[in-house]
Amino acid sequence: MVLTAYLMRASGGDQITEAAMKAIEYAKEAEVPVVLTLGTRFLIEEDPEWWQNFITEHVTILAMNEDEGAALTGHNDPLLASEVALEWCDMVLTTAGPIGLYTAGYTDESLKRETVHTLLPGAIPEFNRYEFSRPTLKIDCENPLKVYAHISPYMGGPEKIRNTNGAGDGALSALLHDLAANTYHKTNVPGSSKHKRDGLCYSSFSQICKYANRVAYEVLAQHSPRLSRGLPEREDSLEESYWGR
Ligand SMILES: Nc1ncnc2c1ncn2[C@@H]1O[C@H](COP(=O)(O)OP(=O)(O)O)[C@@H](O)[C@H]1O
Ligand SMILES: [Mg+2]
Repeated sequence: MVLTAYLMRASGGDQITEAAMKAIEYAKEAEVPVVLTLGTRFLIEEDPEWWQNFITEHVTILAMNEDEGAALTGHNDPLLASEVALEWCDMVLTTAGPIGLYTAGYTDESLKRETVHTLLPGAIPEFNRYEFSRPTLKIDCENPLKVYAHISPYMGGPEKIRNTNGAGDGALSALLHDLAANTYHKTNVPGSSKHKRDGLCYSSFSQICKYANRVAYEVLAQHSPRLSRGLPEREDSLEESYWGR
């Protein structure tokens, strides 16, 4: 279930917040992950502590951009903002405009998978070391390990950015797709080794970064945030090496 921050702050007798709280209750009962996308720095700045508590209480996956992350956590560094937010929820997607995006979450110590990519410097040195691991609910980890991944904008970003509206939403939609793909695969191939242990997503942190990045690029390159056509299964030409990496 996907919530936006706006839903939680309705005023003037609007019942939308009440309806959202009821929906959260149903989602929890059915063990459906609750996803919150912040969507505006201003709402968060008004009362960061309220949001921290709300996330702790109700949210599985948090999506935000660097400004919203700073308002929520006090950290301008999107990696540190992601790390702090992981104290309150199970997984975080932090987009950072031209810096690209980060995914952060948990995996069980026994299931961690080391990357073959270059280890990246940052406020958490070599933070992407286990980015080939799959996101897992913290509660499903015997020994939860925090895992981070980062990706720079696909192809350095479009030559001409037509409209940035919805780029962050596009990135989140790719994550949501992967989340749903896991449930779909689990239903259809329950015997797969993938599902011996409960993972939250189908793919690794690293792979989800690629998907999210790719969708964001497509949204930036066109005039409206609607994706009117699907992305190719595999990219031709130049991008071949990108997918192979
Ligand atoms: N100026 C840019 N150059 C290259 N890529 C960008 C740029 N702005 C956004 N992107 C891509 O789009 C993603 C989402 O954009 P962002 O601005 O972080 O989200 P939001 O729309 O929520 O503020 C980024 O993670 C990045 O991959
Ligand atoms: Mg932005």
